[in-house]
Amino acid sequence: FIPPSDVGEDGSILAKDVNGNLIPASQILAEPIGTRALVAGLAGEPTYLTIKDDGTLHPWGIVDNCTHLGCTFPWNGNENQFQCPCHGSRYDEEGRVVRGPAPLPLKLAHINVDGDYIRISPWTENDPRTGEKPWWV
Ligand code: FES
Repeated sequence: FIPPSDVGEDGSILAKDVNGNLIPASQILAEPIGTRALVAGLAGEPTYLTIKDDGTLHPWGIVDNCTHLGCTFPWNGNENQFQCPCHGSRYDEEGRVVRGPAPLPLKLAHINVDGDYIRISPWTENDPRTGEKPWWV
């Protein structure tokens, strides 16, 4: 079996682990519902994938890069938030700011399952959380 091309014409890439190995979608989808799985995304940016209640992947990937000063942060499943350890910013499960000092929602990327791999592509349309042009474009 030959995996699909690593880099798509649309600037997309396939999700990899920290060692640069492709991650099969089946491996991520074997995790429990509600899991936030961290993968290496576009330009190597760590990106959270979410397993939805129906067992599929959420079409939004959330980039693990705090909009305050760029720290990475964990998911807190008990509080349903991403919580930045550097200065206390908090974001809801879709990356909206619920507590500053972070000024902006977390960056998004498109997530699609491509065969048994996960394709991550740039998000350039309006941000569905604000209805506006994304700040990162
Ligand atoms: Fe996250 Fe400051 S870098 S709160």
